[in-house]
Amino acid sequence: MSSDVYISVVDVVKIYETASGGVTALRGVSFTVNKGELVVVMGPSGSGKTTLLSLLGGLDKPSAGEVYVDGHALHKMNARQLDSFRRNYIGFVFQFLNLIPKLTALENIEIPMVARGLKDGRDRIFDIASQLGISNKLNRLVEELSGGEQQRVAIAAAVASDPPIIIADEPTAELDGETIEKVMDFFQGLRSMGKTIIVATHDPRVSRKADKIVLLEDGLVKGVYRGAEIVSSNVSIKSYRDYIRGRLVEIEDELRLLSDRFKKGELSVDDFIKKYSRLRDIKKFLEDELKFG
Ligand SMILES: Nc1ncnc2c1ncn2[C@@H]1O[C@H](COP(=O)(O)OP(=O)(O)OP(=O)(O)O)[C@@H](O)[C@H]1O
Ligand SMILES: [Mg+2]
Repeated sequence: MSSDVYISVVDVVKIYETASGGVTALRGVSFTVNKGELVVVMGPSGSGKTTLLSLLGGLDKPSAGEVYVDGHALHKMNARQLDSFRRNYIGFVFQFLNLIPKLTALENIEIPMVARGLKDGRDRIFDIASQLGISNKLNRLVEELSGGEQQRVAIAAAVASDPPIIIADEPTAELDGETIEKVMDFFQGLRSMGKTIIVATHDPRVSRKADKIVLLEDGLVKGVYRGAEIVSSNVSIKSYRDYIRGRLVEIEDELRLLSDRFKKGELSVDDFIKKYSRLRDIKKFLEDELKFG
């Protein structure tokens, strides 16, 4: 193992036991992350991204295989040890934001700081909120904020207590292009401070900023890429381009569906324009990715 490997996932299998039998979400996943890397996990819906992030963050344990973070063997820890690991190491941004709607943005951001025993963090929170463009929303109740604003509150809450690792599951799904830039600049700023950041996303505007892309498909690593360059030797750049092509087809379907719904009067003009231009932006990025990638 090279000396700067910080996180190491070895042959990880995850099977969820359900009433109707076992669901295999990961079927033998291996890769490494260095300290201070910004790693993006991509892959179709159901490919295992959220499952993988929850194992890396010590929220759950693998059914088989090993997960090491900074020398700690997470697969061997009991619930109490995992609890303390998470508190010391991880800031989470969950796919379905776990904010408390009846508290203000500021209160939501303060909760994890208090949990880690940090006091007098108001200046720090204000600084983070400014970088994310939500400093004027801090005293509003979360339930009164837009989806994109809530997403940024969740990001601020994840980083406020200064954890060494930030794990974010689709943190930009509700954001427009400009705000995505802002959030990615923010993540890159954290990285330059030595933080390790792992982001699951469908958005090529996010993956472009990654040091490393882990592409999942049906619970397996289809490839590990560094920008356009291939890191792991057993895959070709073709699967990444196939993935991008697949996403383009999906986006075109979504655009058609959106127009149909608008014509049927199911969407307001505002909603339609907002969603339509977001999809069009993504489409353009995907097309560029094929051109230049
Ligand atoms: N708690 C659970 N119990 C049973 N099956 C689960 C559970 N969580 C996830 N799965 C299954 O595991 C597989 C991987 O799910 P996961 O949520 O990790 O995918 P994902 O890549 O994050 O998808 P998305 O892009 O839609 O968020 C899916 O088949 C899913 O149905
Ligand atoms: Mg998910």
